[in-house]
Amino acid sequence: MKGLFLVLALCLEYANAFYLPGVAPTPYKAGDKVPLLVNHITPSINQEDSSAKTYLYSYDYYFPRFHFCKPADGPEKQSESLGSVIFGDRIFSSPFELNMLENKTCQNLCSETYSKSDAVFVNRNIRAGFKHNWLIDGLPAARQMLDEQTGTTFYNSGFHIGYVDDENVAHLYNHYDIYIEYHKRKEDEYRVVGVIVDPKSLTQTADVTCDPETPVPVTLSQEADTGVTFTYSVYFIESPTVWATRWDKYLHVYDPKIQWFSLVNFSLIVIFLSIIMSHILIRTLRNDIQKYNEINLDDDMIDEMGWKLVYGDVFRPPKNPMLLSVLVGSGVQFLLMAVSTCGFALLGLLSPSNRGSLATLMFVLYAVFGSVGSFTSAYIYKFFQGEDWKTNMILSPLLVPGALFGLFIFFNFFLIFAHSSGAVPIGTMFVIVLIWFAISVPLSCFGSLLGFRRPAIKVPVKVNQIPRQIPKQAWYLKTSNMALIAGIFPFGAIAIEMYFIYNSLWFNRIYYMFGFLFFCFILMLITTLLVTLLLIYYTLCNENYKWQWRSFFVGGGISVYVFLHALILSKFRLGGFTSVILYVGYSLVISLGIGLLCGAVGFIGVMVFVLSIYSQIKVD
Ligand SMILES: *[C@@H]1O[C@H](CO)[C@@H](O)[C@H](O)[C@H]1NC(C)=O
Repeated sequence: MKGLFLVLALCLEYANAFYLPGVAPTPYKAGDKVPLLVNHITPSINQEDSSAKTYLYSYDYYFPRFHFCKPADGPEKQSESLGSVIFGDRIFSSPFELNMLENKTCQNLCSETYSKSDAVFVNRNIRAGFKHNWLIDGLPAARQMLDEQTGTTFYNSGFHIGYVDDENVAHLYNHYDIYIEYHKRKEDEYRVVGVIVDPKSLTQTADVTCDPETPVPVTLSQEADTGVTFTYSVYFIESPTVWATRWDKYLHVYDPKIQWFSLVNFSLIVIFLSIIMSHILIRTLRNDIQKYNEINLDDDMIDEMGWKLVYGDVFRPPKNPMLLSVLVGSGVQFLLMAVSTCGFALLGLLSPSNRGSLATLMFVLYAVFGSVGSFTSAYIYKFFQGEDWKTNMILSPLLVPGALFGLFIFFNFFLIFAHSSGAVPIGTMFVIVLIWFAISVPLSCFGSLLGFRRPAIKVPVKVNQIPRQIPKQAWYLKTSNMALIAGIFPFGAIAIEMYFIYNSLWFNRIYYMFGFLFFCFILMLITTLLVTLLLIYYTLCNENYKWQWRSFFVGGGISVYVFLHALILSKFRLGGFTSVILYVGYSLVISLGIGLLCGAVGFIGVMVFVLSIYSQIKVD
């Protein structure tokens, strides 16, 4: 259904107002047709009723059981970008007839009959808070809301398909008051700058009026067939908003102060921590190195001195060098994709009008950075004195992306089973595989070859023939415990941001706080690096030379917290088996992705660290 990720201007104000230069405004003359397109029907969290179930998959607008009105000559599918399809957009034409500046009241759309079973289905979805997602001139139809904290109005994209009244009865919205805000640019040139829909539930009598004296809401009976007539009215309202800022009201930030506050707080802690840590580390190391280089090697004193003792083993290749190098390569690939996606977003290259541009960009960057990932994998594999470079070359572009694709297909089966529109069509799957094998794999192989052809990293000290005995380690020095300790710190940096990411992933909210995200992301990387370095230094001082896998796991410890956070803090009750599978599955994929990324950062940081400290000591 969807995929996700990360993250340059620290100013929220700037991050808010990014527009793609390539998206040109559409000029309309009075009377021109303004097309209303309908997108999928998406879930949301029902805020009023905490006992309501939440579903995590969307439906086609024209899914037959909803009985929404179709155009006379059948709905027409609109062309969409690859990312848009992967992210679940399914856009179709609609029967609404809108003409610039022409107000219309109470237009009849169609009449439909809901059978008992369809009524059960629709009522369930009203309760679950499913929403319409209409698009006019690239703008989502929204409801106007008031932010009570700041007293400003903003637009909340989408509107519910119905509502639940005080007696806990579900009512279907069958009348739509559509308000189109337009900006008059010059004589007879108008632009759409806002779309608000005010839906109503009105039982229609034989003579269809949309303004009855005593309105009776529509209730779909679960005992008998119910007839429903759909109607709409359109009003064109002049607005001072100019086209360039039309998205501002949609990209409303709830309570930015709290976010800033926690962010500033956290970054102060990180800066403080890193100063202390670098100070300690550098000072201790300098002392260590000085002492080591002064005293004689067979001096008794050497026993008390930590990390130098293992110089003869520290560059001994780890177990499973193949897997580790491939995983680190994949982590680097994720890292580069995340950083450059954020970079593009912050430069203002991803307009919300350009649906799916974020996903398309992520996908393309991921494919392209396969080259750097494979290069890293090959280079590290060579450092581990691996011989089987062909396997490494094949595994690098296939292992992690293949697993991702496999999971994607697995989730897709559940979506098909649930009749969700989120299921990605076979054609799109085929395009993904094609891009993979036509672009990413050749680039990866090229990267691998470059990696293997470079001279291997020179090891500053020779590896002893016989491995050294590792003394018994305290319980907290076990890799798993260390990873758990280390993971908390970087997780603190991105915990706030995860909430917004999940919201955009599951509930079709536009994600736009790339400034925040980028900042948090950088904090996360720095924290990961510092904590991993410190813990591995500590391990080496305890005469445990097996730093390779350990640094990867310690760096990746964050994933445990990301996963638990997703499971525990989901403040909604999932409806249906498919929702549970999707939620747990995607949470797992996201947390492992972040783990892989941070693991790679931890490993590479420690590798550089180890190489540099052992090159400073004199060994005879
Ligand atoms: C259309 O309706 C809106 C809202 O009622 C009103 O402000 C506007 O003047 C109307 N436009 C025309 C052309 O009648």
